[in-house]
Amino acid sequence: SDAFKLGLAGLGTVGTGVLRLLDDNADLLAARAGRPIEVVAVSARTRGRDRGIDLSGYQWCDDPADLAQVEGLDAVIEVMGGTDGPALDLARASLSAGRSVVTANKAMIATHGFELAQAAEAAGAALLFEAAVCAGTPILQTMRDGLSANRIDRIEGILNGTSNYILSAMERSGEDFGETLAEAQRLGYAEADPALDVDGGDAAHKLAILAALGFGLRPDFAGVEVNGIRDVRAADIAQAERLGYKIRLVAMADLVDRPGEAPALLQRVRPCLLPADHLLAGIDGPTNAVLTLGDQSGPILIQGAGAGSAATASGIVADVVALARGQARAPLAVPAGQLAVAERADSGAR
Ligand code: NDP
Ligand code: HSE
Repeated sequence: SDAFKLGLAGLGTVGTGVLRLLDDNADLLAARAGRPIEVVAVSARTRGRDRGIDLSGYQWCDDPADLAQVEGLDAVIEVMGGTDGPALDLARASLSAGRSVVTANKAMIATHGFELAQAAEAAGAALLFEAAVCAGTPILQTMRDGLSANRIDRIEGILNGTSNYILSAMERSGEDFGETLAEAQRLGYAEADPALDVDGGDAAHKLAILAALGFGLRPDFAGVEVNGIRDVRAADIAQAERLGYKIRLVAMADLVDRPGEAPALLQRVRPCLLPADHLLAGIDGPTNAVLTLGDQSGPILIQGAGAGSAATASGIVADVVALARGQARAPLAVPAGQLAVAERADSGAR
């Protein structure tokens, strides 16, 4: 049967991971998708760069936005990054041309996700971003589909692999973070701008997406209170340990009822003391975890690799398989067109 044809913008850690995964697992993906999955055209900033991967079989676009127009594509994958700029241009151009978009870009979704979801709905296209939160760990699918019968009361998580990797290394070595960030960068965990990792912005992007999905609201990134791990010292970790605690960068979202007023959406990212027996205290290294409290399900803990080339490609390609099967789901838990009915918390958000 006809191949499912893709354009790929971004050939860094994640983009090359996607190409490798599509190659390594081609047969099983074709069986699961019901047809072969094929990248036809690619784009990145520097054409000649050695990426350790043969790109000669792909059409090259100097401008990523041109992927929106390449003939015969079924969907576009955006893995360049950045809140605005070429990523947003490509997503807008693709969706307005009726072409579905798969992205790992939490900065873009946390900031422009509502607008893009509306554009997708209007065009009958899909906007999928499983890899944007916890890489290949299927938290968005779990929240959107597996927990769809629940009112979500609270979301807590460890959402930044780099920070957790650094805190875990500080715990082991008793040293301040120094070289560990460089190591996380070498391993492909860190953002292009690592300040997003250590200052909490990346976790805040992901929390805004989870809260939007869980509570049926527009993503409200600007409403997240953010503190990162930059000021955490090895001495703080040792002191916490003596008291029976671990320090983790925890992201929390709650809808707090207020009599006579709309509930307030509280979203916070900050280093927290967790009792050693807390479900999130044992999460080490680049692992992420999300604890979701559903009113019927009770607490659900989902954990797995939160960063890295193959793990992130796993999340991207899961979305591609859903598209190829014709099973793409609504971009937000509440379709953007119906969000007005769910905006009970918007006015009380800040
Ligand atoms: P990299 O920096 O490794 O790769 C980015 C790629 O995008 C590069 O190929 C780069 O081109 C290209 N690019 C960047 N800016 C432009 C531009 N202005 N025009 C054209 N191409 C551009 O990043 P990652 O692969 O690590 O991350 C990509 C996305 O995935 C980001 O949104 C990130 O937040 C997200 N993500 C990353 C994870 C990870 O573990 N790394 C996990 C989950 C999500 P060139 O190579 O020529 O410079
Ligand atoms: N820089 C991010 C992290 C990548 O460390 O978690 C995954 O989104």
